[in-house]
Amino acid sequence: MKNLENLGRRRFLTISGKAGLSTLVAQAAGINFGMVSVSEAAVGRVTPFRFAILTDAHLFSIPDHKFDGFLADAVDEVLGLKPQPDFVVYLGDIAQNGKDDQLVKGKKILSKLTMPLHVIPGEHDWYLDMGAAWRGHFGNPTWSFDHKGVHFIGMNSILVRDFWTPAGMTPKQRMDTMEMLESPIAGPWGVREEQLEWLAKDVKALSPDTPVVVFTHSPLWDYYPRWNFQTEDAPQIRAILGKFSRVMAFHGHVHQTVYNRIGNLSSIGTLSTSWPWPYPEVQMKYPWSQMNRSDPGNFKDGEGAQYIDLESNFGGSMHYDPFGDMLNAKMKNGFEI
Ligand SMILES: [Fe+2]
Ligand SMILES: [Fe+2]
Repeated sequence: MKNLENLGRRRFLTISGKAGLSTLVAQAAGINFGMVSVSEAAVGRVTPFRFAILTDAHLFSIPDHKFDGFLADAVDEVLGLKPQPDFVVYLGDIAQNGKDDQLVKGKKILSKLTMPLHVIPGEHDWYLDMGAAWRGHFGNPTWSFDHKGVHFIGMNSILVRDFWTPAGMTPKQRMDTMEMLESPIAGPWGVREEQLEWLAKDVKALSPDTPVVVFTHSPLWDYYPRWNFQTEDAPQIRAILGKFSRVMAFHGHVHQTVYNRIGNLSSIGTLSTSWPWPYPEVQMKYPWSQMNRSDPGNFKDGEGAQYIDLESNFGGSMHYDPFGDMLNAKMKNGFEI
């Protein structure tokens, strides 16, 4: 993005590391990262910096469970980054079953981070006690702040209609229902009216050329509603944020790298630290298309963390640090918004 001559053409993935990554390269190189014209770029507005994203640790109430170590590994990777990220955002699903001990464990592992941490909830954190424990540990799930010329927003996107009261469910049954990947009982997720009103107020005074980054647990587009890879009121969110020239959205929940763009809003799915979901079923010859792995023999391949370098023109690059790190692979994904 430093070379303005390149702004109008597609960005290509660059990769460093040793041999053996042809599968990942082929997959990622097929993504079109979109275009941006020089006139759209608010050149020089943003002071370049880096932030990191961790998400979807899914910690169980089992002492020394392997997922504890995976999150701890990701924290160590972030601490080892040079330069250091200015802050870290956690995109939900710290817990597996919403239990307080799982949240406490996650908070303790994350407390090793030396930079500010901003957290939003996932469905696995929330539905045992409707967010009571999560709020106690992490505060308000709806927040915004400004950093070096960029406006950052976090929202709780996993709110559903009350399906448990009419069904007479216990809190555990409610949590069990929300844990299902395919969950037709709960229905669609959303940020709902209160947060939409908050969002409208939050961005009201901002000028349209303000770079905006928004974080939600679920995607702000209909990726695969059957698995709740969606946010029902994303169209309203996109409408409220429609006045900005460009908006970057990062989400967890899908445990995959995935990219989408609608209007001014680019959405990027992030790697979990726990397990990679397969790509959703599609009407093709092989309906269960697994997320590609550079090394199928490495059980931690397809998981990891990521960090984002924002550049002065609000372009940037996203770096994935996969745990499948036996090859010392580091993938740099260029994206434009
Ligand atoms: Fe998750
Ligand atoms: Fe989730």
